[in-house]
Amino acid sequence: MAGITVVGSGISVPDKVVTNDDLTATLDTSDAWITERTGIKERHVGGITSQMAIEAGRRAIEDAGLVPSDIDVVLLSTTTPDALVPGTSATVQAGIGVPGGAFDVNAACSGFVYGLVVAAGLAAIGSGRVLVVGADALSRITDWDDRTMAVLVGDGAGAVVVEPVDGPGDLLSWNFGADGTLRHLLMCDHGGYLFMDGKEVFRKAVRVVVESAERALSDAGLSAADIDLLVPHQANLRIIQAACQRLGIPEERTAVVIDRYGNTSSASIPLALDDALRNERVSPGDHLLLTGFGGGMTWASAVLRWRG
Ligand code: UT7
Repeated sequence: MAGITVVGSGISVPDKVVTNDDLTATLDTSDAWITERTGIKERHVGGITSQMAIEAGRRAIEDAGLVPSDIDVVLLSTTTPDALVPGTSATVQAGIGVPGGAFDVNAACSGFVYGLVVAAGLAAIGSGRVLVVGADALSRITDWDDRTMAVLVGDGAGAVVVEPVDGPGDLLSWNFGADGTLRHLLMCDHGGYLFMDGKEVFRKAVRVVVESAERALSDAGLSAADIDLLVPHQANLRIIQAACQRLGIPEERTAVVIDRYGNTSSASIPLALDDALRNERVSPGDHLLLTGFGGGMTWASAVLRWRG
């Protein structure tokens, strides 16, 4: 049975940067409140999901030393597709010039981890390389007069190239979770704006992240001490800190980019992973723990032995 290895990574964010101070011009908020409660200092906005995904995807393919015709499937995780129909992945497939299939995954902020695991499943049943992209333009479904949401969100995309390999490959363990009875905690109706019960999501998030991450560690036969880098969904620095503390993983071994990007939903884990790769924080054989949670609610964790 074929396993997987990750052979390339790339990101894209829109040029426009909005700082916390910029937001105070139109909202009753402050840099101090946003920084203390969330860890966010600035975010990129004005993105279009397909365009960011195309750029991130191209960069990941180039980073892998490949060309678009080397890719068999485009898997796009997004909650903010360009349109309801068609799936945005098809636009990305055409924009990059990938010859193979394309489909969207929507598991909100957990979507990138879901996508990575689905790519491993495709590899196991004989697919070629899969471009896994997490891209979201939350700014497009945000009411910029609502301070409870506007200070949190940002736009971006991150992509990885997943390649089948003989043997077990780099994905050591994974799990998915969902609880649709909690859909009301974080939602956006057709034509509407994002709504979130922040306090409830916060409480639930810490619990499910810790449970899911601990299960992934135990299924991989590892303990927290074996994890070289935790790559969590970037929703709130305080959630990341609480999860680190409960898991027993020091913050120094955690990838954090929320200060620069805010909450970018599906893009947040690949943005954080790419940042760690660029800053040479990941070496072959390192154990990475990816863990996400979000609307649905959904959650997912995966342990990788990097190019192990
Ligand atoms: O990615 C998907 C998952 N998303 C998340 O995981 C997000 C989870 N939730 C959170 O990150 C936090 O709950 C928030 C950052 C959304 C809010 O932080 P909080 O510490 O839970 O604040 P709060 O909602 O309890 O609000 C505290 C106070 C309130 O005022 P009072 O009632 O104490 O007078 C709010 O009205 O802060 C007020 N407030 C603000 N003040 C300044 C709410 N938003 C703002 C704001 N600026 N932007």
